[in-house]
Amino acid sequence: MVYMRKKMVAGNWKMHGSRCDAQSLLKAIKDASDTVMQTEIVVLPSFVHLQIAEDILGKSLVSWGAQNLYLGSSGAFTGEVSGPMLVDYGCHYVLVGHSERRILFHEDLSLVAAKFNAALQHGLHPILCVGETKDEREQGLTEVVIRAQLESVMQTVSASLFRQAVIAYEPVWAIGTGLTATPEEAETVHKFIRDYLMQYQVELANTVRILYGGSVKADNARELFAMPNIDGGLIGGASLKAESFLEICRAVPS
Ligand code: PGA
Repeated sequence: MVYMRKKMVAGNWKMHGSRCDAQSLLKAIKDASDTVMQTEIVVLPSFVHLQIAEDILGKSLVSWGAQNLYLGSSGAFTGEVSGPMLVDYGCHYVLVGHSERRILFHEDLSLVAAKFNAALQHGLHPILCVGETKDEREQGLTEVVIRAQLESVMQTVSASLFRQAVIAYEPVWAIGTGLTATPEEAETVHKFIRDYLMQYQVELANTVRILYGGSVKADNARELFAMPNIDGGLIGGASLKAESFLEICRAVPS
């Protein structure tokens, strides 16, 4: 059985850009998107720019999503945004467990798992981010950390439902630092993740897309995406300029 996993490149805009920046970036991505058919292109603007994404990308092949969500459908949770609100803005994807959420906003394993489930329950495709810090890597704990991050989610969801999700391996030490895991280092962890999922379901392990994130740029993307278990990238800084983002999308082997 040969499993095809369509490569994906997702741009995580974080807390960047004006309304005007969002408009021009989205237009440029949309205009070029039909020249990059081998890649599923996703943009993840901030909540306040989702309406612009829906307006501009509505009839295109580019999908959009959010960087976070809260639990439940509605309620007295000042400042939070729910899954149904995101669906209402045409979101397809939502990031869950990004290291900035885990570290800066103290999202623990159980909250990340609950958010993952909330996304699925409302018909969104969660992009579950996992990854070790520099200290953890130096102590040889990379696999222990990633296993715990995956396990806390796997304990709460069936393997079949998990197939709706995407995983992003993002070593924390590589995010926004200019340091990237070598293609071989990244591939080792991606393979570890796929092997770990095998024990739950072969179909899941073979079909789930595992993106690499952490200082991906046009000049290192090609080598990373050529690895057998790297199914694309989650791009921060380089997703804020249309040219560099599209260049990364084009680095996907056809
Ligand atoms: P970076 O961010 O590409 O700027 O390193 C990646 C991410 O945080 O998703």
